[in-house]
Amino acid sequence: MNDATSSPQSVLVLGATSDIARAITRRLVERRARRIVLAGRDRAGVERVAEEMREAGASDVTTVAFDAADVGSHREVIDKAFAGGDIDLAVVAFGALGDQSRDERTPEAAAALVTTNFTGAVSTGVALAERMREQGHGAIVVLSSVAGERARRSNFIYGSTKAGLDAFYQGLADSLVGSGVRVLVVRPGFVKTRMTEGMKPAPLSTTAEEVAEAVVRGLERGSGTIWVPGPLRAVMVVLRHLPRPVFRRLPI
Ligand SMILES: NC(=O)c1ccc[n+]([C@@H]2O[C@H](COP(=O)([O-])OP(=O)(O)OC[C@H]3O[C@@H](n4cnc5c(N)ncnc54)[C@H](OP(=O)(O)O)[C@@H]3O)[C@@H](O)[C@H]2O)c1
Repeated sequence: MNDATSSPQSVLVLGATSDIARAITRRLVERRARRIVLAGRDRAGVERVAEEMREAGASDVTTVAFDAADVGSHREVIDKAFAGGDIDLAVVAFGALGDQSRDERTPEAAAALVTTNFTGAVSTGVALAERMREQGHGAIVVLSSVAGERARRSNFIYGSTKAGLDAFYQGLADSLVGSGVRVLVVRPGFVKTRMTEGMKPAPLSTTAEEVAEAVVRGLERGSGTIWVPGPLRAVMVVLRHLPRPVFRRLPI
């Protein structure tokens, strides 16, 4: 259960080694989250994050093996995560950027990216919603992206996975109204993390810490969707409505 200040006490992170997820989890531990369940595919990496969270003050940190592409295992993964008790907050953070120039010429690679980013997010979302509906409370934070608001030539496969993810979680949020469970869809722009290492930062680029701060604020305010940084919301309103021939000519 959330504590008296509405801070979550128990947190599940899917994609625990993500730089953004680590920043969010650390921020929540600093705000007295005590039981942390970390799910990821890189066992050694997840263990390192577990140690980091113990050092930050979490008293009960456990880990669960999780592969977003192994859709058949997701119900069991979520059941394991809930075996220790209620989960107040689940963070759906896993995702891959892919390699657009390779993926648009390789059906298997394109499909693998869609399986991880979209199919995996749908299947974990359904499993999370089922368990949270049963417990009658909880919140799901999902990392979408502005890339999903309008797919760009330079990364339309990744963009399309995020468009699908975003639509699914907006619908899931609607389906959970009245259940005690809510969803926060986070749409960051360019975040300087392992995912974007070596890439030239886009305008309005941000950091994992800033995303974490915005997530905590969004949870406190009861927001349904947030953009990070906030001004991206207005930028995306314009970009979304540009006529396609104009949009195509933009250097993005
Ligand atoms: N960075 C950005 O500019 C940006 C902008 C908007 C949205 N986002 C989204 O934010 C989320 C976190 O990204 P990040 O920037 O923190 O990047 P990151 O540090 O590279 O994290 C990506 C995470 O996804 C995990 N992952 C990838 N494929 C997986 C699979 N098949 N099964 C389980 N886990 C898998 C990675 O695990 P491993 O450690 O095992 O590789 C890692 O934990 C992603 O969904 C991303 O799309 C990022």
